[in-house]
Amino acid sequence: MKVEFSAFPKAFTGNVAMLVAADKQLLATAQTLDKEAGGTLTKALGGGRFAGNKGQTLTVLGHAGGSIDRLLLLGVGKPRELDARSAENLGGTIAAEANASGHKAVTVVVDAVKGSKLTPGQIAAHMALGAQLRNYRFDKYKTKDKPEQKLSLEQVTFHVAGPADARKSYDRLAPTIDAVFFTRDLVSEPANELYPVEFAKRAKALAKLGVKVEILGEAEMKKLGMNVLLAVGQGSSRDSQLLVMTWMNGPKGQAPVALIGKGVCFDTGGISIKPAGGMEDMKWDMGGAGAVTGAMMAIAGRKAKANVVGVCALVENMPDGNATRPGDVVKSMSGQTVEIINTDAEGRLILGDAMWYAQEKFKPQAMVELSTLTGAIIVALGHERAGLFSNNTPLSNKLRAAGALVGEKLWRMPLGPNYDKQIDSEIADMKNVGAGRDGGSITAAQYLQRFVQPGVAWAHLDIAGMAWGKGNATTPKGATAYGVRLLDRLIADNYEK
Ligand code: BES
Ligand code: MN
Ligand code: ZN
Repeated sequence: MKVEFSAFPKAFTGNVAMLVAADKQLLATAQTLDKEAGGTLTKALGGGRFAGNKGQTLTVLGHAGGSIDRLLLLGVGKPRELDARSAENLGGTIAAEANASGHKAVTVVVDAVKGSKLTPGQIAAHMALGAQLRNYRFDKYKTKDKPEQKLSLEQVTFHVAGPADARKSYDRLAPTIDAVFFTRDLVSEPANELYPVEFAKRAKALAKLGVKVEILGEAEMKKLGMNVLLAVGQGSSRDSQLLVMTWMNGPKGQAPVALIGKGVCFDTGGISIKPAGGMEDMKWDMGGAGAVTGAMMAIAGRKAKANVVGVCALVENMPDGNATRPGDVVKSMSGQTVEIINTDAEGRLILGDAMWYAQEKFKPQAMVELSTLTGAIIVALGHERAGLFSNNTPLSNKLRAAGALVGEKLWRMPLGPNYDKQIDSEIADMKNVGAGRDGGSITAAQYLQRFVQPGVAWAHLDIAGMAWGKGNATTPKGATAYGVRLLDRLIADNYEK
């Protein structure tokens, strides 16, 4: 979809959208129109429920003699509450509305909103970002779509005072759009199409942005001693892969930030097999790896002056004659041994080896890992926030701040020695599940923490409730790409010179 920014024209035509502040406060353009049309707008607002509150919309039809066919009014709420994120929501709502009505083009009038922290240019840029993010549909396997099922919106034109400023802010945000779409595509793909080798192959596209993309196969991982990761993939006919992406555009010699992703391209549970109902959801058990790959794309796309590496553990968890059995003991790359009690607790197994590899190879200053790790985090936090586990409060606060700014929220969860005890094993250094289901997200995080080297600031984001969603203003239902914008923002605000 194309977006354009231009100055105010003499008259607005066609399918137009405008903002209205709380208490039916018309902004400058709407006030002028209202006067010209003998108070038609004020009349349209009279009596009804639309008051300009956040989230409210009202469509007013054009009138004889006027050049506007259809006017969509969008409530912004209290001006001081209009921030970047709510501007994105407004843009997303415009895109959704246009696609529902089947329009190809929308003209958006962006007047100054007195009392908002944002300039009109920033409002327009973030509205454009929101419209783009909403204007996505994964339909490559649809062969019989009716026209009304397809996206209709092709062009959004923003009229704003100072269009050059708007364009400049938008250009800084634009690389995120490709990255989010790249991740949503990966996460949406069925597992017969997207398996570890194919995932890694698609990630090679990042090379043209200047990212160094290396792929380790099973033989190389075996040599490195990554036996626990390999134990998860050994029941699958698909080869496991370690995807290593490097972007070193920051100060020379400065330790990088490592981003680690869980990439279980399909999780049957293995021999500890899952029940059939809903198992198809486990095609998106690679959402963490998807987010890390997308974040690398966003970071490189805007040529960030930062050192960042991405490491994704890509496997398929299947039951088979060669699959790992419950009770098997395997030695990890760290040298620690693991008793695999439950083969469905596979995410932590692959991540322990991937985290160890990243620390040995890159000596990162900080390590942020994302995974659709536990059903228990959905019980705790639902689909509103990802769980955040960390050994470092400053890093936690940076992540929470970044998440709040982009609308990818986090909630910090506890860690502690009493939880950690639960994963001690009778026969090996540790086992891969706690004593029962209670506190299941925390015992999973405790397992991961045993693979964090001294002095490394580490955070684990359990995104099981966030990778796939029912949709919101800027995200259609399905793959969300949760984490892409969060990680990009974390780097932009804290690790760039
Ligand atoms: N991939 C699942 C977690 C998951 C569940 C993600 C629902 C998204 C939606 C993970 O590998 C898993 O199976 N976890 C088990 C752990 C248990 C065996 C200790 C779980 O949560 O039940
Ligand atoms: Mn599992
Ligand atoms: Zn899993």
